[in-house]
Amino acid sequence: MSNIDALMRLSPVIPVLVIEDPARAQPLARALVAKGHPLLEVTLRTPAALEVIAEMARVEGAIVGAGTVLNPRDLDASLKAGAQFIVSPGLTEPLGRAAIASGVPFLPGVASAGDIMRGLDLGLDRFKFFPAVAAGGIPALKALAAPFHQCRFCPTGGISEATAPDWLALEAVLCVGGSWVAAGI
Ligand code: 3PG
Repeated sequence: MSNIDALMRLSPVIPVLVIEDPARAQPLARALVAKGHPLLEVTLRTPAALEVIAEMARVEGAIVGAGTVLNPRDLDASLKAGAQFIVSPGLTEPLGRAAIASGVPFLPGVASAGDIMRGLDLGLDRFKFFPAVAAGGIPALKALAAPFHQCRFCPTGGISEATAPDWLALEAVLCVGGSWVAAGI
């Protein structure tokens, strides 16, 4: 199993997907992979999400993860559906410990120095910076990255095709996430 750092370096943009209809899963995954997006984050925000993960995981070249994973129960369900990485909007100790014990690549959300310190205490140093724009944007991430120079981030939330390059130019940023990627497909 890859580690989260290797996955974050695979491609600069991770599509964040909110999908209602499982019939859309495979065509959308194929289209995104063809556009150079092998990593696909399927959020657990729709009743169909677990089925969508299972469907997308069958698409050649797709590395399908679950997003909006809130607790160990969501984690288990995502892993059973075939999720190959796990993204959460924030970091709790129960989820962090369960994700680490499972061995799955795990990208928890952080928005403050305290969040990052709790992650470091668990042995984590790769984070989603969420909600990236609302939490202060590029100046906030630069300020947070300075004392935590060993950490790397995937900013997500409010990023667009136009602003993604500004984020990706930061040394602390390995990739960005966003729902805009799939919007036109
Ligand atoms: C997420 O789940 O990571 C965000 O809701 C995605 O944010 P965006 O829709 O602003 O890209």
